[in-house]
Parts: sequence; C-alpha cells; structure tokens
Amino acid sequence: MAPTYQFTFDDIPDLSGKIAIVTGGNSGLGEVIARELARKNAKVYIAARSQARVTAAIARIKQAIGTDENLHYLETDLETMASAAQSATYFTKLETKLDILVANAGLGAIKSELTPDGYERNFGINHLGHFAFVMTLLPLLKLTAVQDPTSEVRIVIQSSQSYQQACLIDYEDLTKTYKSIWHPLTLREMLGRYARSKLCNIYFMLELADRLKDIPNIYVNATHPGLVYTHIFDLSTSPLPYYMQRIGEWHAWLCGIPVDHGAKTVLFCAASKQIIDDDLKAKFLYPAPQGPFGGFVYFSGVYPRELTALGANRDESKKLWEFSERALSSALSNN
Ligand SMILES: NC(=O)c1ccc[n+]([C@@H]2O[C@H](COP(=O)([O-])OP(=O)(O)OC[C@H]3O[C@@H](n4cnc5c(N)ncnc54)[C@H](OP(=O)(O)O)[C@@H]3O)[C@@H](O)[C@H]2O)c1
Repeated sequence: MAPTYQFTFDDIPDLSGKIAIVTGGNSGLGEVIARELARKNAKVYIAARSQARVTAAIARIKQAIGTDENLHYLETDLETMASAAQSATYFTKLETKLDILVANAGLGAIKSELTPDGYERNFGINHLGHFAFVMTLLPLLKLTAVQDPTSEVRIVIQSSQSYQQACLIDYEDLTKTYKSIWHPLTLREMLGRYARSKLCNIYFMLELADRLKDIPNIYVNATHPGLVYTHIFDLSTSPLPYYMQRIGEWHAWLCGIPVDHGAKTVLFCAASKQIIDDDLKAKFLYPAPQGPFGGFVYFSGVYPRELTALGANRDESKKLWEFSERALSSALSNN
C-alpha cells in the first residue's frame, strides 16, 4: 500500500530564491497556495484574469503573513490558448527562471457556450488554456532545471477525483454546447464535462512527466484537493433551477474540508522535501483520509493514489496530447 505522508504548512521549507506561478491564485485553493509559498519567501506570481480580484487577494494574504512584497500579478486569461500563451511569453521576459508552476485555476462551466477557440468551456479553460500556458513556459522550466542541477523544479496540475466520473473522450463532443434543454440532463452534462476536463488534467500530467523524464530534477504530479467549499460551487449564473444550483453548494458546505486543508495536497507537491526524497513523479496525489460522500472530516496527510483504468490509459493520454498540440498550433497560427 502507498505510504501516507504527514504534511502541515510547517513542513514547507524556506523557499527564498524560488520563483513560483499559481494560476487562479486570487481565490479559493489558489489563494492559500500562493499565501503559503509567499510566507516561505518564494516570489509568487498570481496568474489570474482580474487585477482587482488579485489586488484584493494580495491584501488578504498581506493581512495573514504580514507582507506582500513576494506577491505579483501576472495577467492570465485561460479562456483562449492565444491569451494563455501570451501571458506565459510575457512571464519569460520578466524572469530568467521558474521553479514552481501550479496549474490550479479551473471552473465547473455553467454556461452553454463555447470558448472563442470553439471548445466547450470546461475543456477549453481547464485543459487547453493550461496546456497553452504550461507548454509556453516549458523551455524556461527545463532551463531552470538544466542550468542548476541542484534545483528542484515542480509542476503541479490540479485535477479532481471527479475525473473518475468521466467517460472515454468523445472528440466530436468537445466543440458542442449542452445537448439538452432539459434541466436534470443539463446538470448531468455539466458534471460530465467537468469530469472530462479533470481527466484531461491527469492525461496532461502523465504525458508531460513522460516527456520530461530525462531531466531528473523536474517533478510533475497531479492532485485532488479534497472536497472544499469555494467559489467553484457558485452556480448562480447557471441555467439550472435554483434548488439544483444549491445542491453542490450544500454538499460542499456540509461535507467539505476547510480551504487551508484543501491546499495542502498541492503544497506538498509544490514544496515538500518528500517529493524529492521519494522521487515522486507522475503521481496523482490525494488527501487522507476520505470521509463519507467524497468529503473529508479532517486532513491528516497525502498519498499517491492508483489511477482508474481509464485514467491510466496511455493510448488515450497520447491521443489527447496530439489533439492539444494541433489545437494550440492552430490557435496560435490564427492569431
Ligand atoms: N473546491 C473543490 O472542492 C475542488 C475539488 C476538486 C478540484 N478542485 C479544483 O481546484 C481548482 C481551484 O478551484 P477552487 O475550488 O479554488 O475554486 P475557485 O475559488 O472558484 O477558484 C478558481 C480559480 O480559477 C480561476 N479561473 C476561472 N476561469 C479562469 C480563466 N478563464 N482564466 C484564468 N483563471 C480562471 C478563477 O478566477 P476568477 O476569480 O477570475 O473567476 C479562480 O481564481 C480548480 O481547478 C478545481 O477544478 C476543486
């Protein structure tokens, strides 16, 4: 059985000299991840689409840790691959290295719309936006690792246990809005599409880790944070009737763990020494213990969780990689 690693914020070592990016660091889990990395002296870029929301998050973090000098705003909209790549390119002009990249931003897309690139929004933002962002930063991540063999470069992709609800990817369906106008079915479709985007996060992690396996000091992993009551459960602008909008929110509110606990699985991957000591790569890290209804009563540690057969299917992950490369190259050439 895989070991459970005990982990608290105190286990994060001093990160002076490290440079980190946290996508979606203005809210929920990302804000806590940015806060704890900055508390340990990493220079943290909050990659987000609203300067006002980042300014508010930085003010909250300053209140918690006493300083905001390690926190910076990186304008990043994952809605299109071109804008995500543009933000990453801008970063490469600002900094000469990148030690920690947390691809955390995400949404449970509630509107039956396509992204400007023409993809359903869960796939477009949670997967393709991050694919464009991470791939554009990849040369800098590699350079950081290769130039200094003592460096420990970490890439963490925030996924979710809900990937288990995904079916085999139907590539035709990626460019379609919701099929039904019938509310109960819309909810099922919404959950299915979110689950599929989280399966894509796992496939992306597996393929990326494989492609980086010759660079020993790069650690690529994916995470499930646990069930955490955050803005992601705000379905108030969805096409669902009121009572359905609230089901997810109540479930998370009742069964979820506090956001500080939810951030720990990512922080373990992004900063813990255990990742290096045990050479943890290409793993799906999970918080322990799991309580009823997918919730967690408390947080005690992190463990690498076995993927389902679909999650571990390398033919499917390769297919997604090739699809994403084509989509990115077409998005960039149209721009
Ligand atoms: N909460 C849970 O129970 C749970 C469980 C499993 C996995 N997760 C995953 O954890 C991650 C963080 O979610 P959270 O729970 O912390 O929710 P959250 O508070 O809603 O945070 C989501 C973040 O993603 C950002 N984002 C959304 N669309 C974006 C876009 N187009 N471009 C750039 N940033 C965008 C949001 O920015 P804005 O503020 O600008 O919207 C926000 O900062 C997600 O990937 C989610 O799938 C959460």
